[in-house]
Amino acid sequence: MAQRKERLLTGLQPSGQLHIGNYFGVLRPFADSYEQYESFLMVADYHALTSIKESGVLREHIIGVVKDYLAVGIDPSKAVYFKQSDIAEHTELAWIFECLVTVPFLMQAHAYKDKTARGLEANAGLFNYPMLMAADILLYDTDIVPVGQDQRQHVEYAREVAAKFNATYGETFKEPRDAIRSEVAIVPGIDGQKMSKSYGNTIPLFGSRDEVARAVMGIVTDSTGERPVHVHAIHRLFRSEIELEPLYEAHKNNYRALKEALIEDIEAVIAPMREKRAGISDADVLRVLQEGGGRAKAVASAKMRDVRQRIGVTL
Ligand code: ADP
Ligand code: TRP
Repeated sequence: MAQRKERLLTGLQPSGQLHIGNYFGVLRPFADSYEQYESFLMVADYHALTSIKESGVLREHIIGVVKDYLAVGIDPSKAVYFKQSDIAEHTELAWIFECLVTVPFLMQAHAYKDKTARGLEANAGLFNYPMLMAADILLYDTDIVPVGQDQRQHVEYAREVAAKFNATYGETFKEPRDAIRSEVAIVPGIDGQKMSKSYGNTIPLFGSRDEVARAVMGIVTDSTGERPVHVHAIHRLFRSEIELEPLYEAHKNNYRALKEALIEDIEAVIAPMREKRAGISDADVLRVLQEGGGRAKAVASAKMRDVRQRIGVTL
């Protein structure tokens, strides 16, 4: 008998332009594995509201992140795409969880402490962020939550609140496990540090050919060795060492030729995705979200009926 697939859920941050670090670190590993699971992909727009206050920007980023995932090939007929704000059960369940946990418990959240330490506004939404994320996960009886290292503690919060709810009201929620992407190497940026939008050292994933070329030409090289190490480190993502060796041997000291070869190799991978993305309309995104939203709603509303019974608000 075919076994039921495990359920996977992850949240997509609507945070603007992706870079090739995000691609190799998150999108590609996800594209390679999501079909093994019953996958739910949620645009975390209410989480983004803790920091984005311009409505036009938020809207653009929500649409953008769905296009990004569609363009890298995550098929909406094989994964449920939905938007957090379309399913009111998320904020409803978050409230119930907030009534179950203590302020000192939430004060331990690293993400909150880090953000406030960096001077970001400590709004109450940011403080309660882990409970909304717990609701995202637990509403769907999620088995596995693929996240970056920085989100490990948030998944732990979801497990703890599930256990507390179950202990208080009876077995209701499944405790999820995280799948930390620790095996994925950190993609270096054009200056050799971790590629990150906050360091301004990125190669954009869906940038034009000119933008990619400009970024590659800007890769920092030093004149001491024969081989430009930062160029090589990025090139390794696109070709095996066996293929690169003769190229780097043939172009010793010719950094320009090596950068040009890298531009071609990046283009070969990203140009098809860029074209695919350009062909996806806003209306396509709305259709995908509406379709997925219907499927998510069915699961979430059934779960909430049970929760409301258990806490005693259903008369
Ligand atoms: P940034 O550092 O550009 O702000 P984010 O924090 O938005 O990136 O990253 C989103 C996800 O992409 C993270 O969970 C992280 O695992 C992954 N990621 C970001 N930068 C890299 C990188 N240079 N190499 C590998 N993965 C990365
Ligand atoms: N907080 C996550 C991040 O910043 C995004 C997110 C929201 C999420 N809800 C989630 C991730 C549920 C996994 C599961 O990346």
